[in-house]
Amino acid sequence: MADVKIVSLTKTFGDVVAVDDMSIEIKDREFFVLLGPTGAGKTTTLRLVAGLEKQDKGDILFDGRPINDLTPAVRDVAFVFQYYTLYPHYTVRQNLEFPLKSRMRSFTRQEIDKKVEEVAKTLHIDHLIDRATVNLSGGEMQRVALGRAMVRTPKVFLMDEPLSNLDAKLREEMRSEISRLHFDLGSTFFYVTHDQVEAMTMGDRVAVLNDGRILQVGTPDEIYNRPKEVFVAKFVGSPAINLHDARIKADTLLIGKDELVLTLTGPQKKALKGYKKDTVTFGIRPEDIEVRREKREKAFRCKVYFTQSMGAEDILNLKVDSVTCRALAAPRLLIKLGESVSASFDMNRAHLFDSETSECIL
Ligand SMILES: Nc1ncnc2c1ncn2[C@@H]1O[C@H](COP(=O)(O)OP(=O)(O)OP(=O)(O)O)[C@@H](O)[C@H]1O
Ligand SMILES: [Mg+2]
Repeated sequence: MADVKIVSLTKTFGDVVAVDDMSIEIKDREFFVLLGPTGAGKTTTLRLVAGLEKQDKGDILFDGRPINDLTPAVRDVAFVFQYYTLYPHYTVRQNLEFPLKSRMRSFTRQEIDKKVEEVAKTLHIDHLIDRATVNLSGGEMQRVALGRAMVRTPKVFLMDEPLSNLDAKLREEMRSEISRLHFDLGSTFFYVTHDQVEAMTMGDRVAVLNDGRILQVGTPDEIYNRPKEVFVAKFVGSPAINLHDARIKADTLLIGKDELVLTLTGPQKKALKGYKKDTVTFGIRPEDIEVRREKREKAFRCKVYFTQSMGAEDILNLKVDSVTCRALAAPRLLIKLGESVSASFDMNRAHLFDSETSECIL
């Protein structure tokens, strides 16, 4: 087990800066998630930690010791890739044994059998142990791949989107299994994904990455409720946060052709005191807009122009003249397309971002 420290790590491929001056500290036994869109530099970061790529600049330390000059084998990490990297014609047992048979290790036959059986049991693949992996389902194969990483009890588990090739139901199942595995093993996990639900449900902490740069590191709660940048606010949460350009006028925000007039809260007024521009980016999550059928004070009358049922809740797309936004409503309200409803914005839950830098003001 180990803590991992990444200091000013930079990696370029020609003109592309894949990892840009990245610094993060992953605690011993932490489940740390790197979340970002395609091309953000996630795989490159993991490959640098594994020693499969060499950085241009910066350091990687395990337990305070620099590992920059160590070969991948000596770094003692286990890598689970996005695509199954199993030997298809080997049995599950042979695949699991493989890492224990490397020339660098000297385990006895009994030790190997014991370890393989333990791991197979933990991952519920013991009944498949003598099957050829070529005949397994996607979920079973990914379990074998996880098993191969586990047999050695490495210092750090590196996982590169291990669930992205599974169907939705299996992905959900494996999410909780990997979380459980982390709990049982008590190892450090460095997990990469572009899927915000995975990041938010599995991570102790999440780092949001874009264009090789870390935008924010925090607990899922911090990332969701206190996004430091517009990009983070947009990337996390489904349905996505509503974002609007807003003009600041006295103690209000004006949106669209001034159809939406929102009254700033005390803390928002205070935060805007030192802000010199006259526009902000206003953000509010769909669950922070309350929709009712009846007219209400301080609510906006809007038209429902699109609805989408998600089972537990409905997503309503609302229009107040030129302004559109998404809100959530309980399906029991039976709100229909074309209806007029009242929408109240919970200004205490709203986010204000600098309209030029995209950084959070409050
Ligand atoms: N070997 C390479 N040669 C040239 N460019 C590369 C190489 N590896 C990665 N890149 C570039 O570096 C950037 C980051 O790539 P990386 O694979 O780390 O992204 P990612 O976040 O893992 O994306 P994805 O979600 O699609 O897997 C991309 O622009 C990519 O094209
Ligand atoms: Mg990748």
